Formats: sequence, C-alpha cells, structure tokens
Amino acid sequence: METLSPTSIRPFDPLVVRADFPILHQQVNGKPLVYFDNAATAQKPKSVIQALTHYYETENANIHRGAHYLAAKATQDYEDTREAVRQFLNAASTDEIIFTRGVTEAVNLVAQTYGRQNLQAGDEVLISTMEHHSNIVPWQMLCEEKGVTLRIIPITDQGELEMDAFAKVLTERTKFVSIVHVSNALGTINPVKEIIAAAHRVGAVVFVDGAQAAVHLSPDVQALDADFYAFSAHKVYGPTGIGALYGKRRWLEAMPPYHGGGEMIKEVTFTKTTYNELPFKFEAGTPNIGDTIALKAAFDYLAQWDKQTIAAYETDLLQYATQALESIDGLQIIGTAKHKISVISFVVDGAHHSDIGTLLDNEGIAVRTGHHCTQPLMQRLGISGTTRASFALYNTRDEIDTFVKALHKTLKMLR
Ligand code: ALA
Repeated sequence: METLSPTSIRPFDPLVVRADFPILHQQVNGKPLVYFDNAATAQKPKSVIQALTHYYETENANIHRGAHYLAAKATQDYEDTREAVRQFLNAASTDEIIFTRGVTEAVNLVAQTYGRQNLQAGDEVLISTMEHHSNIVPWQMLCEEKGVTLRIIPITDQGELEMDAFAKVLTERTKFVSIVHVSNALGTINPVKEIIAAAHRVGAVVFVDGAQAAVHLSPDVQALDADFYAFSAHKVYGPTGIGALYGKRRWLEAMPPYHGGGEMIKEVTFTKTTYNELPFKFEAGTPNIGDTIALKAAFDYLAQWDKQTIAAYETDLLQYATQALESIDGLQIIGTAKHKISVISFVVDGAHHSDIGTLLDNEGIAVRTGHHCTQPLMQRLGISGTTRASFALYNTRDEIDTFVKALHKTLKMLR
C-alpha cells in the first residue's frame, strides 16, 4: 500500500488536492457536486479509504490479546495511531489519549466519571450559550442527578463570548467549565487559553470541545493547559465512529472507569475486579480498530502541508464568501466574530433556511440548514435556524462563485 510519509511535502494546490478525494468528482442532480458541509463531516482522501481497505484485506484481527502475527500487526498500527494523536494534540504521553467514538462520547465519559466522582449539590458547571447539544445534555443529566447547577456564559450579538460576564459567573462554586473551542454554528474561535487560566484560578477543571477546532487550528493541550480536550476523526478527514479524548494523567488515574468489560481490567474475580492501567482502563471491549488505524492516514495526509498554509487558504475562502454574501439584499450573516474559522451561517429575509437548502441541493450544492444542534444558541439569537456553508482545503473560489450564483437563483424563486 502507498503510504504518505510526513516528509513528502508537496506544494499546496487545491485543484491537485481535489484529485485525492474521489467523492468530489460526481454530479448531484445533474450538476457538479459542491460540498460545503465540511463542519458536519469532511470528505476522505483516497489514502484514508485505502488504509481502511488495507486493514480489512491484510491485517484484520483483535488487538492487545492475540498470540499471532495479525493480532500483533493490528495492535502495532492501532497504537501507532495513538502516538499520532498524541503528536497531533501535543500531549505528554500516549497514556493520556483515550479512543472514543467521538466528541459526544468523550463529553459523556468525562461527565459520568470525573463529574459523578467529584461534583456535588451546590457545585456549579459552567458552559456557554454557543455549545453544541453534546456539550449541554450530558452536563444537564449530571446536574439533575447530583443537584449541581448549570450556569451559562452569555454571548454578544456578534457571537462572541461575553468575557466580562464570564468573569462574574466564574466563582468558587464553579467546579467544572466545559467550553467549545470553535462554534459549529457561528465559526467563532473562543479564547480557550484565557478561559482555562481563569477557571484554574478558582480551582475549576476544564473540558474543551475541539470538534470544529481540531482541523482548523493546531490545538496544543499542554500550551492550553487543558484538563480534557476531545476531537472527532471524521472532521479531520478521517473515518466516522472514532475520536479521541485527551485527559491529564492525574485526572485519568483518579477517575473510575466509564464502561466495564474486557480489556479495561487487570484481574476479575466474583468478589473484586482491578482495573487496567491507562489508557486501557477507559477502553472496554473490542474497539473500532480499522477506523482508528485509518485515522493515522488522515494525519499523514494533512502532514503534507504546513498548517499555516491551509489555514491561510481557508481564511481566504471565508473572506471571499463573506464579501459575496454581504452584497445580497436581505441576507444577514449570523456570527461575525473577529476570530472565525471557515464557517458562514446566514439567514435571509423572506426565505426559510430549509427551502434554501433544498433549492441549493437541486443545484448540486451541499450545505447544512437548521439549528445545527445548538437550539439554545438559536433561541438566544431569535431565529429558528440558519443556512451554513463550511469550507475545507479542497474547496475553491470557483465553487463559491457557483454557490453564490445558485443562491441568487434560489432567492429569486423564494421571494
Ligand atoms: N456537529 C456537526 C455539525 O455542526 C454535526 O454539523
């Protein structure tokens, strides 16, 4: 199998990059596909798809237990991905990298282990108005069970956190802060380093939802001093159904296991079970081996360019699209924070977002419409939802032109 080593740097050319993504070369409703739903899930390069096929064709076996060649090979590749994740997040040790199904499972894991163990009635958990449901509901469940209070950091009309209000709501009662690094609905990049430092000053522990940030920024868990940080593979050009939770060793060691079963144990008797060491204590049962191994191919793929080159390219797409959309009569961009990733949400007078989405789909253009799993945010903004275009490294200015033209046509039909 062809593997791309991080040293095989090539010049960044989006048109060449597009050739690596088989799915992009198709017609949808008789039009060339324009895929602008990257915040929901990014497409996969050939090398990731091949890594998955290669695993099932040549090395499928269960890991950490077999005495045979295939089991050893699969275990090695699985653990190589853990090391790749460690490097990606700049964690101190692979012991601090727990594989999960994605960010949602990571939040639930932390709420149900760290949260259940350490929080009690009278304590407060702090989240923000712009959280995804996955960073709201697990905390609500915990609060209900333990008599803990959920407090909310408000946002401005531009979609930025109100940092003065944050300073006020953060008190000695705050025992946990769970915050999104980048908003999926607005694109806002939050000052998580500042938030973590402030939370630590009152003795609170911080979880960062890196679902949207991981692919656009370069999260460095040690520089951020994050207690927990999670991302999902499918948003970094990897497979669905896998992701990782970083946790500081001292928290992970003290936390009880999340799921019980094979792999997470050291010894089982009917009277007592002792648990495995990190990170296996949190990985009960046969994991998603093939997809985890293919995640490394996604990291190798991205390693062909420096992160700044891709970030600058995506910023250019964001600015180009923002300018074009701003010139449309009655269109309002939702989320105009100073620091944003390449996500544009908008509403248009006299046109419902779901109709816009359907008519754009007729033109072969994939966007997301609705509340983006952020209903409280939509309530704060007084809207039922938005149309959202989100860009990746294989998108182009030409595609934005096609999108804007189709949007004009769509709005003509709707208004
Ligand atoms: N959370 C993902 C999105 O924003 C699914 O689309």
